[in-house]
Amino acid sequence: MKKIICNNREEIGKAAAEIVLAQMKRKPDSILGFATGSSPIPLYNSLIELCKKSELDFSRVTSFNLDEYYPIKRENDQSYYYFMWDNLFSHVNIKRENVNILNGEAADPAGECRAYDEKIEKMGGIDLQILGIGHNGHIGFNEPAEFLSADTHMVTLTESTIKANSIYFKTEDEMPKSALTLGLGGIMKAKKIIVVINGSSKAQAVRRLFDRRVGTDCPGSILNLHNDVTVILDNEAAELI
Ligand code: F6R
Repeated sequence: MKKIICNNREEIGKAAAEIVLAQMKRKPDSILGFATGSSPIPLYNSLIELCKKSELDFSRVTSFNLDEYYPIKRENDQSYYYFMWDNLFSHVNIKRENVNILNGEAADPAGECRAYDEKIEKMGGIDLQILGIGHNGHIGFNEPAEFLSADTHMVTLTESTIKANSIYFKTEDEMPKSALTLGLGGIMKAKKIIVVINGSSKAQAVRRLFDRRVGTDCPGSILNLHNDVTVILDNEAAELI
């Protein structure tokens, strides 16, 4: 895994945006995999800036988001659907019909997951996947567990993730306790992966990510088996490596 160490979140955003820009120059109809959460926000701000300056064109891009809470309504301001439109899609020229986000209201979540994998496959796979990492090493919502799933699937969120994310909901009870997520197979099939990480609270997860041991206790550690991963992080997140 390559690593780029930056001084702050803005630098992380700019460095990651350079990689997205290069990808879109190489292939204007790229299939991009997006993540939510606080880590990619500076990247999305940089992409919006580049798009405003006409240096980036999303008109031929197709997107697949990594995950979504379940159950959740799209119009809930904590849904990842809402997040993506609010933080990126409404501000760039991506076509609505080219945006794919797992449906947190699907009556048949297993069918929704299967159809999502089939669509990604049919479109030729994700060219560039953007990831963050959880304090417990999760990527997407693939939580530490005895076994990890390869395909897109429904997960029960761990206490650690509920604690970390419930701050965004009015009460912990309002936070969905399950989610739909791309599996590790889906993530690893992406041709190129970037991981954006900031803050000292992620330092332990980063240490585990870089210790070269692959284990289900840290789902992100599987990225060591991919041949094109760039981790972009700040000094605080890198303080234990
Ligand atoms: C979000 C996602 C999660 C986050 C992770 C880090 O789509 O897949 O794995 O990347 O929870 O979240 P932040 O960036 O909020 O620390």
